[in-house]
Amino acid sequence: MEHLRIPGPTPLPDEVLQVMSRQMINHRGAEFGQILQGITAKLKQLFQTKDDVFLLTGSGTGGLEAAIVNTLSPGDKVLSVAIGVFGERFGSIAEQFGAEVIPLRFEWGKAADADAVRQALQAEPEIKAVLVTHNETSTGVTNDLASISSVVKEFDKLLLVDAISSLGSINLPVDDWHCDVAVTGSQKGWMVPPGLAMVSVSQEAWQAHAKARMPRFYWDFAQAKSYLEKAPPQTPWTPAITTVFALSVSLEMMLKEGLPNIIARHARVGKAARDGVKSLGLSLFAEESHASNTVTSVKSPDGLDTGKMLKILREEHKVVLAGGQQTLAGKIFRIGHLGWVTEDDIKTVISALKVALPQAGFKR
Ligand SMILES: Cc1ncc(COP(=O)(O)O)c(C=O)c1O
Repeated sequence: MEHLRIPGPTPLPDEVLQVMSRQMINHRGAEFGQILQGITAKLKQLFQTKDDVFLLTGSGTGGLEAAIVNTLSPGDKVLSVAIGVFGERFGSIAEQFGAEVIPLRFEWGKAADADAVRQALQAEPEIKAVLVTHNETSTGVTNDLASISSVVKEFDKLLLVDAISSLGSINLPVDDWHCDVAVTGSQKGWMVPPGLAMVSVSQEAWQAHAKARMPRFYWDFAQAKSYLEKAPPQTPWTPAITTVFALSVSLEMMLKEGLPNIIARHARVGKAARDGVKSLGLSLFAEESHASNTVTSVKSPDGLDTGKMLKILREEHKVVLAGGQQTLAGKIFRIGHLGWVTEDDIKTVISALKVALPQAGFKR
């Protein structure tokens, strides 16, 4: 079996694989309604929210677009806190839909600074919403969302959170941290294939929705809510039924393990990955105080041909890691460790790296 250690899609447990061979069912029938209701209740537990949670068919980026078009109007000022590729993407979506985006960028590899967010909000009182990535998958950095959130709420702004590679793996109490919309994607820590975005929507987000004038149709939260409240519960548009079957099983597994245990397992696995790469003489790209427990980014040292190393790992060890994105291509590589992962999986990666690194030019 291939050891897929990229930060999503992630490997699927056998129970999940099995349920995906199920025959189709009527997505407007009673059985689907029951599955959808069960999933929604379980997601609320794992999001740690009492507010609405919707299952949208699409990838995580669709969920980010939904967060924006459901809460904002063209011309609204938005603070876009970016620490990497995905933070930039969130801001770009808002810009495409006509928001006036004020970027607040931090050096890649570092976390966002809550005081800088405060200064930006003080400087621009008209800002309506703050966009922030909880876990920046491109750099392997987890922002201190609790601190950022408390600043955003000091100013009473909407907080829209890309939690695509954190929710369900890294602690994110959506209600306690006042996230107005939090977005995640099925192919990340949820142990299911790509195809679904899951979003939470706060009361404040609903108030913003009532006034928001950006164009929306497919992603309209009001449609998602009205169909979920039908008998039987439904989604407005045909959902990715097979991925829904998968999610129904994976959520049962997750609740059986328990959220605190899942979070602790990711913390152990993250530490094992960081300790492992350091033991090989490599350095982390992310500042260690904010290093992510779902993806570890590693600096490519001088002399290392990163592409060659990734090829050796893939072809000779069946270990699939991710390279760097955009300007980080060739400069870093990334180990994904979210979802169905244990410390043994990290040992496999580190052992393979130990062999492949010198073959690809790395000298300690
Ligand atoms: C933090 C983050 N945001 C956004 C995305 C985009 O999600 P998708 O590829 O599912 O559209 C990803 C996926 O890698 C991500 O990790």
